[in-house]
This record gives sequence, C-alpha cells and structure tokens, in this order.
Amino acid sequence: MKTLVYKIMNAADPLLDEISRILRNGGVAALPTETVYGLAANALDPKAASRIYQVKGRPSDNPLIVHIAGLCELDLYCRDIPESARRLCETFWPGPLTLVLKSNGRIPPEITAGLDTLAVRCPDNAITLEIIRRAGVPLAAPSANISGKPSPTRAMHVLADLDGKIDAVIDGGECRVGLESTIIDLTGDKPRLLRPGGITAGQIESLIGPIEIDPAVTGTLDEGETVHAPGMKYRHYSPTAPVYIVGGDAETAAAFINSHGGPGAAVLCFEEEAAYYQNMQAASYGLAAEPETLAHGLFDALRSLDRPDITVIYARCPEGGGIERAIANRLGKASGFHFIDPDSKQGEKANMQIIGLTGGSGSGKTSVLKLLEADGAYIIDCDALYHELLENSQELIAQITKRFPDAAADGAIDRKALGGIVFSDKAALNSLNSITHSFVMREVQGKLNAAEKAGYELAAIDAIALIESGLGELCEFVIGVVAPQELRVSRLTLREGISEEYARLRISAQKPDRFFIENCDFIINNDTGDLNDLKRRWNETFKQIKQ
Ligand code: TXA
Ligand code: MG
Repeated sequence: MKTLVYKIMNAADPLLDEISRILRNGGVAALPTETVYGLAANALDPKAASRIYQVKGRPSDNPLIVHIAGLCELDLYCRDIPESARRLCETFWPGPLTLVLKSNGRIPPEITAGLDTLAVRCPDNAITLEIIRRAGVPLAAPSANISGKPSPTRAMHVLADLDGKIDAVIDGGECRVGLESTIIDLTGDKPRLLRPGGITAGQIESLIGPIEIDPAVTGTLDEGETVHAPGMKYRHYSPTAPVYIVGGDAETAAAFINSHGGPGAAVLCFEEEAAYYQNMQAASYGLAAEPETLAHGLFDALRSLDRPDITVIYARCPEGGGIERAIANRLGKASGFHFIDPDSKQGEKANMQIIGLTGGSGSGKTSVLKLLEADGAYIIDCDALYHELLENSQELIAQITKRFPDAAADGAIDRKALGGIVFSDKAALNSLNSITHSFVMREVQGKLNAAEKAGYELAAIDAIALIESGLGELCEFVIGVVAPQELRVSRLTLREGISEEYARLRISAQKPDRFFIENCDFIINNDTGDLNDLKRRWNETFKQIKQ
C-alpha cells in the first residue's frame, strides 16, 4: 500500500475533505494532535478499528481513545456522566486530557476491548478537529507508532514506523506537548490518575478536589496487582538498548555516567548538563529549567538513540509533580523503572569485583568459568542465559520471529534453523545480535545486582560477544580464552553432538583469536586441551588479577 503524505498548514485547506472521506470510508490515517500523532480510524466501524491493531501490532486487550469534536458530543457515547467530567471538559478541552467514563455501548467492543467504560478526549489541534467535524464520526486513535516504540511527535517518526502500512499521514508539524494526554478515570469512587500528561494532577485537583494516583504511574505496582489503563502494563517507549535512569546532582551523575561510558554507551541529558558529556554520545532533550521543553523533546531524542551501535543509555530525569511526573513516567517505562543512585553505586562497585570471560565456542572459557565458581565467584553464563530467554521471553521470541520468520514455528524459535541463517550471513548475525544483546544485558544487570545484595565479592560474566555487546564495560578485567581451531571443532562436535561442518560454520562466524588478543586484559591459551594445564594457567592469571 502506498501511504499518501499530506502537508497541511491550516484548517481551511480543501484537502481536509478528502482526508475526512478516507476516514469515513474505513481508511486509517495518522493525524497530528497537540500531544503526539494519532493513528485514526472511524470509531463506529469495527473493521477500520481492527486495522489499527493490526498495523501497530497492538494487543487486542488494550482499548483505544475515542476523539470527539467537543463536550457537546460526550452524551452521544457515554452515560452517567458526573458533574466533575463536565467541569474538566469546560476548562481543559480542547486539550491533553482524556476522561474514562461509562460507555453507553454505541462504540463497538473492538475499540473498547470489551470494557463497559470508554476513554474520550477532544484534541487541541485545529486541523484534526476540523477533520473530525467533516468526517462526522468519532475517531479512534492510539499513538501512531509501532507498539513498544516511543510515540511519534513528528510526521517523519510516523513514516519511520508505518510507511506503506496506512492510507495517509497528515504532516501538521511538530506536536506541541510531545507526551500523550493525561488520563483520568471518573468511573470509580474517587477520580484516579491513570496516566500523567500535559494537564497536571494539580490542575485537575484545583478543579475537582483530591484525586488518587494509580500505582502504575510510578512503576510501584506489585506483582499480581491489576493495571487500570490496560496500556500501562506493556514495556513502552523503548529504544533497543536498555535505559537506566541516573539520579543525583549534575556532577555526581556525570561522574558515574562518564566512568561507565564505553563506546556503546549514550546519555540522554538536560541541555544544561551537555557540557559534561563531550566525550560520549549524548542527546539533550530540553532544558531542566523549563520542563515543558523536556516533554516536547523526549520522544524525538529517544528515537535518535535507537541505533544498533548504542548498547546502553543512561538518562537524566527531572523531579517534580507537574509535567515532570509525566516525563518520569515515560522514562520509567522506557527503562523498566530501573534507577541507578550513583552515590550508593560508587560504594557498591568497590564491594564486588566483576570479571569478564570471552572467547570463541569450544575454546574452553566455560571450563575457566567453572574454575572461577570453585574460587567463590558468582557466575553468569550468557550463552545459557540466552537459551533460557529464547524459551521463555515472549518479547524476545516475538522480535526474533518478526526479523527471522523462517526460524520460527508455533510461537517458538528453532535454534538450529536460526544458526543456519545467521552463521553464514554477517548482516543477519548483526541484526540478531542487536536484538538479543539488550535482553541479555538486562538479565545480567539484574543478576549482578542480586549477587551484590547477596554479598558476593566476585562475579564473572561469560559471553562470546562480551566486548561487542557492551557487557565488557561492566567488568574490571576481561579475560580472553583462545585455542587452536581443530581442538575447538573436536570439542564442539563431542560436547554438542553437532556435525563437524556445523561446528566450523559456527566458529567462522565468530571473531578470530587476534580480536581477543587485542581487546582483552589477559589471555589464557588453552592449546593443550588438558584441564590441568588450563587450571595452572588460570591460577597464574587469577593471581595477577588479585594484585
Ligand atoms: O495523547 C493521546 O492520548 C494520544 C493521542 C493520539 O490522542 N493517544 C494515545 O493513545 O496515547 P494510546 O492508545 O497510545 O493510549 C491509550 C491509553 C492506553 O494506555 C489504554 O490502555 C488507555 O488509554 N485506555 C483506553 N481506554 C481505556 C479505558 N476504558 N479505561 C482505562 N484505560 C483506557
Ligand atoms: Mg501509545
């Protein structure tokens, strides 16, 4: 399908009639709003709405917001509307506030995900308001991104995700607010903030009195607790690389981030702090002194850091109960609510030493890992971790299936088939790595934190791609284990019951010994294949590390 792009500067543009017609007749088009771009379809047409889910890859249990032309249309789709709703609409509509109200059943279940409530809002964008009026139907519109990616705040973001999949994009320039609307649920005993956004809790409270903040907003939801806005339970806004929010004052944070800033590390920072990060990849997203600029720039900056060469992102996050709450919520979700407190981290780091182990398959690094374990280290075998993730992480399986459909069947990944594809194709291997590394990194970080809490003094991470994945940056020393090719082939065939040919294919896809010799702090040569020799060489290396 060809996606038409219309650049429209004002609401009197005659093209609006054509766009309205597309939407009325079951089309799907991305429209600018003051918050983010929305992917709109006729909210009275279940078939059109189901295209939205399909195009975005959105889970069908996540209902859509219905966009209407104003307060006068509220009674058409909702019932038992409380007085507080009308007061909020009169003050904040058109604007970035979504109300959850009782549905009167006119909006079909495909849009409400079968709930008896409905989320409605009236967007503050002259072009889109005019399109709603001319279409003569309410428009269901989630943010116009692929599920999981940052919401689009410019037409080019929409095209990056959805070009060729939707009928049209209306380019109305950059979105003013930059974060999705505030959602407030008025169907319970007390008004409840489900998603913070451009209208702050304080603004709402000044009009209708105290409101509750849903625990999902701050990521403090306990396991098993229900999420009230179904969309809040999904990982979201995430670049491929893991994101960590670094607290503390400007200087402490900069010291921590710079000392962790290897080649794959990037920082998402405030304009005022950019000078601290001249030696690393940095994207500043606005002024800390003017948090609206941070909201405006956040998603664009997150997208700019979504690159295969970036393996970890450290983010600075504003504090406060205004728009800062919405920024912290989105960054929290992008990071899986992972916070680093650099003050306590400095101390922690000194407590547990982390050693990296790397080398090709069959070189004997896992034997060295076992020796480390015997020496009291907490060990992490990334190969085993990866295989576990391949079995259990639905998110990883989904991403690999999308990129390598031939290696997937019945919701599972065929490892042999996947190997067959990537071991002989460098680009495919890189693409697989860019998917898997961030998942493994996340798991490793979690395990390291747990080990540290449990009081371990030494941890070892064993990974073939330790250096390329950015894991090496977590390690004080990296040890490379190398061995002659023929020895590796015979070990692999014996250990894994694979053919010699497959073993050679796998080895040829890996880095040569030279790479490890150049990049590691220590090299252990496992050329005799005798465990006692290996043990002796390990002990010599360990002595040097301990010095
Ligand atoms: O600013 C916005 O609201 C943008 C623009 C395009 O208008 N739209 C937007 O839609 O952010 P979306 O689909 O990305 O987010 C809608 C959120 C989801 O978290 C969804 O679960 C929640 O609203 N939601 C929808 N209907 C709901 C309901 N009946 N009760 C509770 N939450 C609901
Ligand atoms: Mg969204």
